[in-house]
Amino acid sequence: MSQSYEIIDHKYDVIVIGAGGAGLRATLGMAAAGLKTACITKVFPTRSHTVAAQGGIGASLGNMAEDSWIWHMYDTVKGADWLGDQDAIEYMCREAVPAIYELEHFGVPFSRTEAGKIYQRPFGGHMANFGEKPVQRACAAADRTGHAILHTLYQQSLKNDAEFFVEYLAIDLIMDDEGACQGVVAWNLDDGTIHRFQAHMTVLASGGYGRAYFSATSAHTCTGDGNGMAARAGIPLQDHEFVQFHPTGIFPAGCLITEGARGEGGYLTNSEGERFMERYAPTAKDLASRDVVSRAMTMEIREGRGVGPESDHIFLHLEHLGGDVLQKRLPGITETARIFSGVDATRDPIPVLPTVHYNMGGVPTNYRAEVLRPTADEPDRVNPGLMAIGECASASVHGANRLGTNSLLDIVVFGRAAAIRAAELVKPGATLPPLNEASADKAIARMDKVRHADGNLPTAVIRDELQRVMQNNAAVFRTSEVLKEGVDKLDAVTSKMTELKVHDRSMIWNSDLVEALELTNLVPNAVATLYSAEARHESRGAHAHEDYPDRDDKNWMKHSLAWIDEAGKCEMTYRPVHAYTLTDEVDYIEPKKRVY
Ligand code: FUM
Repeated sequence: MSQSYEIIDHKYDVIVIGAGGAGLRATLGMAAAGLKTACITKVFPTRSHTVAAQGGIGASLGNMAEDSWIWHMYDTVKGADWLGDQDAIEYMCREAVPAIYELEHFGVPFSRTEAGKIYQRPFGGHMANFGEKPVQRACAAADRTGHAILHTLYQQSLKNDAEFFVEYLAIDLIMDDEGACQGVVAWNLDDGTIHRFQAHMTVLASGGYGRAYFSATSAHTCTGDGNGMAARAGIPLQDHEFVQFHPTGIFPAGCLITEGARGEGGYLTNSEGERFMERYAPTAKDLASRDVVSRAMTMEIREGRGVGPESDHIFLHLEHLGGDVLQKRLPGITETARIFSGVDATRDPIPVLPTVHYNMGGVPTNYRAEVLRPTADEPDRVNPGLMAIGECASASVHGANRLGTNSLLDIVVFGRAAAIRAAELVKPGATLPPLNEASADKAIARMDKVRHADGNLPTAVIRDELQRVMQNNAAVFRTSEVLKEGVDKLDAVTSKMTELKVHDRSMIWNSDLVEALELTNLVPNAVATLYSAEARHESRGAHAHEDYPDRDDKNWMKHSLAWIDEAGKCEMTYRPVHAYTLTDEVDYIEPKKRVY
């Protein structure tokens, strides 16, 4: 098979797949540590989806009022509805403060207070003193924080001589016969060549799979490629049932209106003009955790109090903030509202609806970013040679529901953690073992098969069916019946992959083939989501199961592991949540009822 393609081999100390914030922070750290580092990315680095992150990055700097990383940890554990691993959460919240100062020194242009400190705004679920009152913890660069961070990290990576392979699509991991990762096979979209990248450590930093849904705030490139590759390499996908709906996607386009808008004083109303969040979350109100706000909005619409001709959305008010605040703090979303809903936010409310935004689940890792291949006896067993960071990973710091701003934090803290761990494990220039040619050939053969798929269903048709099943059957509220129907319908969609048709057989800039390969990644992500959701008989965080409305810590405080075989069949197992912290500086936070 490999004879049909021009193959180019590369050897590196480390390879990073993906150039969003996580991938770039890892790339920069690894290159700075003296490791020969390649970053492989399907889009130009500054077009990665991190560029769309708006409201801020969480860290208890205490620039606006007293704050503490221990309160941040408490809020994260509570936000995660006690499904997060508290050792990893401790690590992230403690490291947040130095990570932000490091970003500042790298050159991130944060907004400033009058005193010249980094500006911090309120955000959902960010509270002082263990839930007592809101605190301003989101470090912001206006409403373009991800953009500012992404550009800075790319510049720093170049400065540290990292090598970039831009517009290369990763096809599959190269694994040795013992299951250790040896690298990746990738396709250069520009000239059609196939590349075998070998390294001591391969880092998945490929982002989420929001595009398994019909409407999402995610870029169209968010197709869960890393998770798909991991699943095909025999790694389970963890906690995929937990999909975050952001309360304020613009209706109907789905583009993000940052939670920072409510942080700056914006609020939601129903058709009666009522600020209904006061009923659902008396203390935090519009700044309750995202799952809570999204459920409240959905309830209002279901009970007939939605706005608009079809009573099918909600209003977000910013008019009272005034043009100056909108221009200074929220210029990006003011523009987005104008372009995508035709609304002048200084005068009229913005129509919004909960929209798919983030995947809490992903490739299981420990807090050092090492990928786990759990067994019954060893639930934290490390898979050699492979790391995962950012949205494609599940560390698990977000558990069943992520707090706003903890995604930008996750990518910089765990990108940095991956670099630190790689520098401990990999000696620069150390000899690589012989490449497992059979594994690389298998990857190329898989791509070739998709390239020559000659059924009668174009990618767009199958993808549309998949997205509609996810949108209808794995939404904000779920029931046993709806989930079972979703599993059956998704099985039917999966079986249609044998009827896939790829029209364009060329290897140069073939978007037909790119989208078909992306679909082969979306499928295992969607399967893991629906199978895990159907199996979980409780409500926790973003998984709101109407037949099991309560959280069930006795039976379900455990991580779901979806193992997907080559035919798309899914088997579920579970591993324990870490009920311990990393150090003695903080005690395990005992589960309790989650109120805001
Ligand atoms: O609302 C936002 O600005 C999104 C932030 C996040 O998802 O962390």
